[in-house]
Amino acid sequence: MSTTRHLSYFKPHFKASKEFELSTPVVPAPHKFKRIAAPVSASPATGHISLGDSNKSTFAGIVPVHGIEESEKTEIIETPAAAGYYDEHLLTKPLPIKGQGTFGLQYVATGPFRLVVNSECHHSSGNEDVLVLEVGNDTACFRTRNNSDPANILKKVTLAKPDLGFEAGLKTRYWFSIDKGNKILRYGKGYQTTSLTLLEVNLGIEGSTPWAEWMNEVKFLAVAPSKDEDVVQFADDLDLWPFAVDEMSPVVVHNDKVTLEQLEDGSVTVVENLPPACQQLYANVTGKAIQLDEGDFEFSKAIHHSVTTEGCIGWNKLKAKAEASGHPFEAQYLRVTLGLNRGNSPGSPFVMEVWPPHHYSSVHSHSNAFAVIKVLHGTINSYYYADLDPTKEESQYYRQMEFHKDEVTWLSDRQLQTHQLRNETAETCVTIQCYQYGDHDHTHYEYFDYIEEGEDGHPSTVKAFAPTSDWGFSDFKKKVKEEWEKYQKEEREKV
Ligand SMILES: [Fe+2]
Repeated sequence: MSTTRHLSYFKPHFKASKEFELSTPVVPAPHKFKRIAAPVSASPATGHISLGDSNKSTFAGIVPVHGIEESEKTEIIETPAAAGYYDEHLLTKPLPIKGQGTFGLQYVATGPFRLVVNSECHHSSGNEDVLVLEVGNDTACFRTRNNSDPANILKKVTLAKPDLGFEAGLKTRYWFSIDKGNKILRYGKGYQTTSLTLLEVNLGIEGSTPWAEWMNEVKFLAVAPSKDEDVVQFADDLDLWPFAVDEMSPVVVHNDKVTLEQLEDGSVTVVENLPPACQQLYANVTGKAIQLDEGDFEFSKAIHHSVTTEGCIGWNKLKAKAEASGHPFEAQYLRVTLGLNRGNSPGSPFVMEVWPPHHYSSVHSHSNAFAVIKVLHGTINSYYYADLDPTKEESQYYRQMEFHKDEVTWLSDRQLQTHQLRNETAETCVTIQCYQYGDHDHTHYEYFDYIEEGEDGHPSTVKAFAPTSDWGFSDFKKKVKEEWEKYQKEEREKV
């Protein structure tokens, strides 16, 4: 997790032409490089090189031209191994396990780029066997060498979704997963979860291809942009995960509730599978005594009355929040905090949230914190998003779940972090949320970022929401109880 974020990279200072002279293949090649014999022309403005009619690949034809004179370019293109290779920026920290792991990069790309994994920590320069994810303008592919030979594209695609290309000028999380156990390469954008896989190749699908065996050896990583200006300091933006991309159910249950069928279909996960921070939060808020209604006081009915009756304290607070924010009344919910902010969570660690009928939140993330949420009353729907991306429509969620009374869900810095909650019923929903930063989070970003919908042709934007408190729990419960008892008395007197 965040322990692996503080990485460094190094890049030798010699130029591409010199670098190429130094590079020699060191890994036994499962196949020979196929020379591209097509005529070559270069665009001085873009550095893009056309390989002529014989090359119909969408991906081919871009080579790095970092500070190279025109005569030097010609020299490189005439050398087969360098045709269309991207200059590799080597990362000093390898995958923790050979042949297994997920390589995630938060990156602002303005042009195509490649992520390269190698069995050795040196430049392949297009003439060695490596595994390459190439992210292009509107498409992507996996290659077996860092060059632009169409023969090196892995074509046994088992999954391909739309919107494969780089997000021009937008900081985006791209990930490349290597799974030697299942012989699968995956690429996705957003959180590193199976649902967000955009492109998948199964190297074992045709039996024992050379690559299915060779992928067991890959360990070292490199980022290879096609544009000089896309070279960034990667240290704070890298995320190495020791496992191939995985997905756990948003539904958490105690292990004595899991059936064999659920083990098979993965529709629930058990507490022990959660990250340690979530296990701790789960213990705090899911005890049997954590209930809204107790004794003869129906707190849930009192809350519903308060937030749905004009003039009551709940309704008045929602109205005031709508007027202060300029957002619709239905976009408001109540945040009732429990206990003190101990400095290890965005706002108070325990928050009871009240969702009147048909009210909803914005699409928001959770400060990279961990959370466990239990439904105390009613039903809430959660819509999950790949990232907090203001260019995407609200309808572009990748997963939706409905949670009922006593059901528990979770989120982490790695999965389910960005969502929208909606009460789509006619009954008020009440949830208890519990937040905590991860052990290795030394930033403690105190805000929940959210997408504010643009109006009148203005684009949507990301804004920061300070998770403040509308009431303390004891004060809220006392006032709502008084209000409810007064209302019941008046009703009795009417009768
Ligand atoms: Fe949330």
